[in-house]
Parts: sequence; structure tokens; C-alpha cells
Amino acid sequence: SRNVRLAVIPGDGIGTEVVTEGLKVLEAVGTKVETTTYDLGAGRYHRTGEVLPDVVLDELRGYDAILLGAVGDPSVPPGILERELLLKLRFELDHYVNLRPVKLFPGVATPLGGSRPEDIDMVVIREGTEGLYAGAGGVLRRGTPYEIATQESLNTAYGVERVVRYAFEKALGRPRRKLSLIHKTNVLTYAGDLWARTVDRVSLEYPDVTTDYYHIDAASMFFVTQPERFDVIVTDNLFGDIITDLGAAVAGGIGLAASGNINPDRTAPSMFEPVHGSAPDIAGQGKADPTATILSVAMLLDHLGLTEEAARVEKAVAEDLVERQAARASRTTREIGDDITARVAG
Ligand code: NAD
Ligand code: IPM
Ligand code: MN
Repeated sequence: SRNVRLAVIPGDGIGTEVVTEGLKVLEAVGTKVETTTYDLGAGRYHRTGEVLPDVVLDELRGYDAILLGAVGDPSVPPGILERELLLKLRFELDHYVNLRPVKLFPGVATPLGGSRPEDIDMVVIREGTEGLYAGAGGVLRRGTPYEIATQESLNTAYGVERVVRYAFEKALGRPRRKLSLIHKTNVLTYAGDLWARTVDRVSLEYPDVTTDYYHIDAASMFFVTQPERFDVIVTDNLFGDIITDLGAAVAGGIGLAASGNINPDRTAPSMFEPVHGSAPDIAGQGKADPTATILSVAMLLDHLGLTEEAARVEKAVAEDLVERQAARASRTTREIGDDITARVAG
């Protein structure tokens, strides 16, 4: 089979550190991968003023997949790199499914005390191209006492239905066959109504999938008190953002949380990245946990149909996670990467 063509965007802060380890693991898998690294992020922005030039965006469309570290830096005003680089990629490449597993691996400590791996095993399907992220809104009289700032959530029947359908298919493929909608229908009556009606209508085509509904506030509580309630979750862009950081925390920490920005129609490459950001507070110190990125590489392999390779990476991570509970000394980013790489290489 031909080489996998992979675009790599290390980005900012710990993004570059964790991507190095992810690529080591990818190489150890033995799949022929041709990588091209793109210098995008704070460095390029300061040097050239560019965030994501159109020619680069068009080039990126030609790859089989993209691996991203993280973007965002304290030296750049908030929103520039996040909106014009990361979100632009998600929107332009039509990553309407943001797939974020929340899974407690055996041996991993959770702040929930008594929880067992079978209690915390869900998949959050976060809508990736609409909602409050679409950028609708504006500001009037900025900087005056009469300032008015609006930020509107964009929800289309088309956009909601396609992600809901994906979520039902995902639920059908899992043993519990359960799908929970998370929203805030008691207050966000226009958008919430569209989401709830869409789930109800599509559910008629999936009689084997049980559905239920939680308001985002109550869902946040149950993530902590009764995570076993959840199997597959579908939710909008912002609720999905928030609930997956919470999910990461309950499943052992943000350093373990992987994600895929998926274009299920394969009209453009999907993009894989850890859930976490560039972590300026620990950047450059070798303290970042690369596991989330390595698990994102497993998701990438799986997306490309390299199921056996993906399983091998996930198994190596699972073994490493068991071992690290017993280990006394904490390891650097590179040491964790080396240890997982060694397991993958066998
Ligand atoms: P963050 O995820 O970068 O960090 C939150 C906390 O988690 C920090 O204390 C950090 O040290 C810790 N942490 C994160 N990843 C870790 C890892 N792999 N190992 C160990 N500890 C880890 O979130 P933030 O501080 O809110 O944001 C920092 C910057 O990253 C901002 O510019 C933000 O916009 C950006 N961001 C980017 C992405 C992305 O590129 N996908 C995601 C989230 C935040
Ligand atoms: C994430 C991040 C991004 C988001 C930011 C950096 C735009 O928090 O990937 O979860 O909100 O989606
Ligand atoms: Mn986030």
C-alpha cells in the first residue's frame, strides 16, 4: 500500500514537545508515513504576521490526515491563533465531528475515588463547525460605558442532523447502545429545540439505541457523581468543549485526553490532536505528558483503517499507564514517549 501522507502542525508551547513523541510512536508502528511539518503558530505570526495563509490551507487539503499539537501563546492576543488557525482548519476542512473519548484506563487514578474503568467509558461527540464558535455577533461602542457585545450560537438543521446521525451510528456500534443529548433546552429554547427535535426524529430510525437527555449543568454534576450514566454523548460545540475538559479530569487528567476532528464524508483530511492546549505554564520544561497525543495518533491510525496498528498503540499506552502507577519517579515528556515507543516496537 502507498505511504500515508501526514501533515504535522506542532504549533505552540508543549504542542511541539508532545508531537515529537507522537511521531516517534507513529514511526515505531512501522506503517510507511511521509510527514511534512508546517510552521504555524505564534512563531510564524510574530515573524511574518501570517496565521494560516490560503496556499497552506489548500496544501493541507491534500493530505491523508493532520496531526496537531496545540496552538495559542500568551504573546499573541487571545483568539488570533485559536480562531484563525485552529478553528479555521476545523471549519474549512468540515470537521463536523469532534470525537473525544472519555475513558478511564486500568490502573489510572481518578479523582472520583471508587470509580472503575467500566464506570468511565464514554465517547463525547462534540459538534465542530457551528454553535457559538461560528463567530456570529459583534460589538458596538467598544470601550465606552455603552458597549454592547453579542455572541450568537449558529445551529442549522443540516449541521445538527449530520452530527446527530453520526452519534447514533457510534452508539449502535457500542455494547450499551445509549445516546445522551446534552444541551440547555430550558433556557436556550431555539437551539435546544432544534437539537432535541433532531434527536427525537432520527431516533425513530434507531430503535435499538436508547436515548436520554441532560441539561449541561446537571450533566456536569453526573460526570463527577455518576459517570456510568453515560455511553455516547452528542452536544454542541461549546458544551462539548467544556464537558470534555471535565471528562479528561475525571478520566485521569488532561494529559491523557485524545481527540479527532473528523470529516466523516472524507471530503478533506481529518485532524488529530490532544484535547489540551499549549500549556504555557509548563512549556519548555519537559513536563508535559505526551500520552494524549500518542492516543490521538492511535485514533488517526484507526481513522485511516490501520486498525491493528491503532490497537497496538493503545495497548502500549494501556500497559504504560499500569506501570506508571507503580513507578516512583515521574518521567519527562521524552521518557514517557521513549517507553511507549519501546512497547510499540516490541
Ligand atoms: P491548557 O490545556 O493548555 O492547560 C491547562 C492546564 O493543564 C495547565 O496547568 C497545563 O499545564 C495543564 N496541562 C495541559 N496539557 C498538559 C499535558 N499534556 N501534561 C501535563 N499538564 C498539562 O489550557 P489553557 O491554559 O487554558 O490554555 C493555554 C493556551 O492553549 C491558550 O492559548 C489556549 O487558547 C490554548 N488552547 C489550545 C488548544 C488546542 O490547540 N487544541 C486547546 C486548549 C487550549
Ligand atoms: C479545544 C480548545 C479549542 C476549542 C480552542 C483553543 C479554540 O479549547 O480544542 O478544546 O475551544 O475548541
Ligand atoms: Mn477545550
